[in-house]
Order: sequence, then C-alpha cells, then structure tokens
Amino acid sequence: MKLSTLAAVHAALATITIATSMNYTTVTGYFLQDDNATNATTFDYTTTNLGLINRTYPSDTSTTQTQTQWQRFTHHLTTLNANTPPHTTHKLLILGRHGEGHHNAAESFYGTPAWNCYYSLLNGNATTSWADPTLTEEGIEQALVANKFFAHALSESGMPAPQSYYTSPMQRCLATANLTFSGLDLPAKYPFIPTIKEFLREGISLHTCDRRHNRTYIASMYPDYPFEAGFAENDTYWTGVVGETPDAQDVRSRTVLDDIFSNDNSTYISITSHSGEIASLLRVLGHRVFSLRTGAVIPVLVKAETMKDEVSTSTPSFTISPHCTAPLVTSASSFGVGGCLCPSSAAPVTTPLISIGPFRR
Ligand SMILES: *[C@@H]1O[C@H](CO)[C@@H](O)[C@H](O)[C@H]1NC(C)=O
Ligand SMILES: *[C@@H]1O[C@H](CO)[C@@H](O)[C@H](O)[C@H]1NC(C)=O
Ligand SMILES: *[C@@H]1O[C@H](CO)[C@@H](O)[C@H](O)[C@H]1NC(C)=O
Ligand SMILES: *[C@@H]1O[C@H](CO)[C@@H](O)[C@H](O)[C@H]1NC(C)=O
Ligand SMILES: *[C@@H]1O[C@H](CO)[C@@H](O)[C@H](O)[C@H]1NC(C)=O
Ligand SMILES: *[C@@H]1O[C@H](CO)[C@@H](O)[C@H](O)[C@H]1NC(C)=O
Ligand SMILES: *[C@@H]1O[C@H](CO)[C@@H](O)[C@H](O)[C@H]1NC(C)=O
Ligand SMILES: *[C@@H]1O[C@H](CO)[C@@H](O)[C@H](O)[C@H]1NC(C)=O
Ligand SMILES: *[C@@H]1O[C@H](CO)[C@@H](O)[C@H](O)[C@H]1NC(C)=O
Repeated sequence: MKLSTLAAVHAALATITIATSMNYTTVTGYFLQDDNATNATTFDYTTTNLGLINRTYPSDTSTTQTQTQWQRFTHHLTTLNANTPPHTTHKLLILGRHGEGHHNAAESFYGTPAWNCYYSLLNGNATTSWADPTLTEEGIEQALVANKFFAHALSESGMPAPQSYYTSPMQRCLATANLTFSGLDLPAKYPFIPTIKEFLREGISLHTCDRRHNRTYIASMYPDYPFEAGFAENDTYWTGVVGETPDAQDVRSRTVLDDIFSNDNSTYISITSHSGEIASLLRVLGHRVFSLRTGAVIPVLVKAETMKDEVSTSTPSFTISPHCTAPLVTSASSFGVGGCLCPSSAAPVTTPLISIGPFRR
C-alpha cells in the first residue's frame, strides 16, 4: 500500500474512545455449554436440544407440568424479565457460526503455517477464490443440518422462534443464515429478515477472507436483507496492512452488543457470525471459552444491566501480523508469533509498518 493511502486510512480510523453503557453477565445453569464439565470439542448441539439442561425452574407451576423443557424455559424467562428492575433485562442469544467456507478448506489444504504466512493473503489460487468466500459443499450441508435442527426444535420441542435476526456482512454468513432459516414454520409476527451488521464480521486480519464485498454486491445477492443504518458502500476497515487485535475486536463486539441491547426489545435473538467473532462476543458476555465447529450453534442466556454512567473504553491500535511475501519453503512445525519460515528471497514482514486505530464508525 502506498504511504498516501496509509495516511488516509490512519486519518479515517483515528478516534480514541467509545462509551459503553451495559454490563453483561452470562447466566449459567440453563445450558450445558457454559458448564466447565462440557467438552466443546465433542459437543453436538443437534443431539442435546441445543444444550438446554433438563431441570426444574422456580417458575414451574402445575400448568407448566405437562409442557416441554423449552416451553418451561420460555415461561421462566418471561418470569425473570417480569421480576427484574427496569434497567435490567434478560435475552437469549442464539449464536451460529457459518458453515465451512472455501478459506477453511484452503487452510486445511495448505496447512495452517503456510496458510497464515502466505496463502491467506492472496485472493485464491487458480481454481478457488477465498476472498470473502462462499460456502463449500460441506458448509452448505452444515447449514442444512442447522435448518433441520431448528425445524424440529420449533415444531416438536417448543423452542421459541427468534424474534429478530442479525448477520455478519460476509458471504459465508449470509448464505448460512439464508439456508438455516429457510422454509421454517415461523410466527408471522417474527419473519426471518436478518439485518446486516458490520461489527458482526470476523476479526479483521490481513487475510482476504476478512475483506467484505461492497454494499451494492451484497444487496444484489440478498435484496431482501436490510442493512443497519450507516452501512458503508466500501469496506473501510480491511486494509491488508494492519489487522485488529483481540482487544480491539472486543471493543467493537461490545459496541455491537450495546447497539442490539439498547435498540431491540426482542428476547430471543439470532446472530450469524464467525468463530473468532463469536469467541469475542462470548468474552464480552462473560461466557467461558467455547469453540464452535463450522456450522455449530450456541445459546447464551444474557443478563444486561444498563449502568448509571457510561464508561469510556479506548480501542487498542491495529497491528501487523507476520507473513511472507512469497510461499513458504517448508511447513514449519515451530510456527508461532513471527515464526513464518519465509524463503530467503522473501523476508518475513514482522514489524509494524504503522500503528493505527482505534476504529469506530
Ligand atoms: C456487573 O454485574 C456484575 C454481576 O451482576 C456485578 O458483580 C458487577 O459489579 C457489575 N459491574 C458494574 C460496573 O456495574
Ligand atoms: C470454570 O473454569 C474456569 C477456568 O478454569 C474457572 O475460572 C471457573 O471458576 C470455573 N467455573 C466453575 C463454575 O467451576
Ligand atoms: C475433549 O475431547 C477431546 C476429543 O475427544 C479430547 O481430546 C480432549 O482431551 C477433551 N478435553 C477435555 C478437557 O476433557
Ligand atoms: C432430557 O429429557 C429428554 C426427554 O425426557 C430426554 O430424551 C433427554 O435424553 C434428556 N437429556 C438429558 C441430557 O438428560
Ligand atoms: C486451490 O485450493 C483448493 C483448496 O481450497 C484446492 O482444493 C485446490 O486443489 C487448489 N488448486 C490448485 C490449482 O492448487
Ligand atoms: C435466500 O436467498 C435467496 C437469494 O437472495 C432469496 O431468494 C431467498 O428468499 C432467501 N431465503 C431466505 C429464507 O431468506
Ligand atoms: C462492487 O463489487 C462488485 C463485485 O466485487 C464489483 O464488480 C463492482 O465493481 C464493485 N463496485 C464498485 C463501485 O467498486
Ligand atoms: C468504493 O470503491 C470504489 C472502487 O475503489 C470506488 O470507485 C468508489 O468511489 C467507492 N465508493 C465510495 C462510496 O466510497
Ligand atoms: C417491541 O416493540 C414494538 C414496538 O413497541 C412492538 O411492536 C413489538 O411487539 C415488541 N417486540 C417484543 C418482542 O416485545
């Protein structure tokens, strides 16, 4: 990138603080995923009723006795919200990771070191594109598994349908949400019309899979999906030069959660996003680490309290990640920070070219 462009990026992104007004807590004891005893590697949401724990609730009554676990949970959540102070609310977030994309398949194909150090920075190879990639056949299958799960859960298990839907603007999430919620028997009052939100995108690395298409293109692919207010035509966040740090990502995850919690009165909310972004949302929500496989879904019962005073949070700078300017000579088993084994003709890029950020819109 030319220096003049870098200066422009710097100017566009140089803002210091955000004000946050919500205090989030994950309410444990309702879902297996927030229990330390549950192994995320082997956990399957489709065979466990999304992880909903079989239990009684203090809100159970003689009339709820014959109801399903989901129906009693729904009654319990209504009771919780009816009995919390006005500045406190509980919402069930249903967070879905997109199905396998071509970038996931390419990472497996090349191996993580070669992928991170080199191939991820390209748009693709001679046969496959992985810049803002679409789903692989496997990824489509995973979204159809989710579709089947929700069809059964809504019709047979009494699971409440989401009352609103949000998705990342990346093609793999748009496609996953589209397949997952297609053809379901949804309440007429709560149709599947996902709002596209910029800050639900994946952590912004130098990888081309993290650069989104322009708004015009997204609208041409999904004409019925509304964009949030202010959604820009071009991707102003991805530079290919510097990437978001986990701390910076958590700040924008908090921003998008504050936005949803302040403006959406729904109790059941579906969000389609990415592994890295869902990990960040879980950190902000105070949930334990829980890695999702491609296509997996996790529910999180959240208590949100509006705080009296807004708290200012600085966004840490973006940073550069080590990579090579030519393919690796070998797949390095010792890959780590700065551990790219570049060919001698292509020295690794390891020092920050520029420190920019924080960013907001
Ligand atoms: C946030 O909520 C938790 C749990 O309710 C509480 O312990 C903590 O003090 C709260 N933090 C702030 C800043 O209000
Ligand atoms: C779960 O594990 C984390 C990390 O090991 C620990 O900090 C936390 O106290 C544990 N929670 C419970 C409920 O055991
Ligand atoms: C979780 O399951 C995986 C796969 O079976 C296993 O390798 C891992 O050790 C398990 N983790 C824990 C904490 O038991
Ligand atoms: C919960 O209850 C259902 C219905 O009784 C049963 O099929 C399921 O195996 C139970 N799940 C667990 C985790 O105990
Ligand atoms: C391109 O990458 C894909 C993995 O996503 C792989 O299946 C394919 O063979 C590669 N094509 C070439 C020409 O190397
Ligand atoms: C999925 O996307 C296609 C193409 O934009 C559209 O025609 C269809 O209505 C969408 N389905 C759902 C459930 O949103
Ligand atoms: C928007 O993206 C599409 C697809 O990548 C591209 O063909 C088009 O030129 C872009 N529009 C502008 C104004 O750059
Ligand atoms: C978006 O990017 C394209 C291609 O770089 C450029 O032609 C167009 O003016 C940009 N649009 C806006 C609104 O910035
Ligand atoms: C949210 O508020 C709107 C407008 O007041 C209302 O129509 C809608 O039913 C409410 N939704 C929920 C889930 O309470």
